[in-house]
Amino acid sequence: MTGGVLAGTVIASLINGGKEPWEGLYDPGRLGSALRSAPALLKAQWDTGKQFVKDRPDTFGDGTNGPVESPRPGEGTVVRAGGKPCAVHRDERGGLQAVSAACNHLGCLVAFNNAERTWECPCHGSRFGIDGQILQGPALEPLEPQDPAEL
Ligand code: FES
Repeated sequence: MTGGVLAGTVIASLINGGKEPWEGLYDPGRLGSALRSAPALLKAQWDTGKQFVKDRPDTFGDGTNGPVESPRPGEGTVVRAGGKPCAVHRDERGGLQAVSAACNHLGCLVAFNNAERTWECPCHGSRFGIDGQILQGPALEPLEPQDPAEL
């Protein structure tokens, strides 16, 4: 909304022949800021692509990091069960909760954030609760529940 109001102010001023301090910042022909941010944008895209490829089991690794028994109480890990990546969390009483580790946005594998106690996608930042419910997008669907007894 702020951008819309600012755009309206700048455009109205330009139509009336006035000068605006933000004119250069919002000039559609500006190139300097785009060029300055290009390396960071390319690096972010490169990192996302690397993570996506790394998570494919038939490429450079299986994207998992331990057996299903490995998470200590309060922690989570990604395991592969039946060929599918599963995000497994062990609660304080030793019970296991499992959801699909494949993010529903574009398929990267989530990782457990011990500080926040959430599953987080390294590709675009989606966050999920231990039960797989969405806490933050861009993913639009929760992580699919898995039966820990089948792991
Ligand atoms: S793949 Fe984009 S947020 Fe997970």
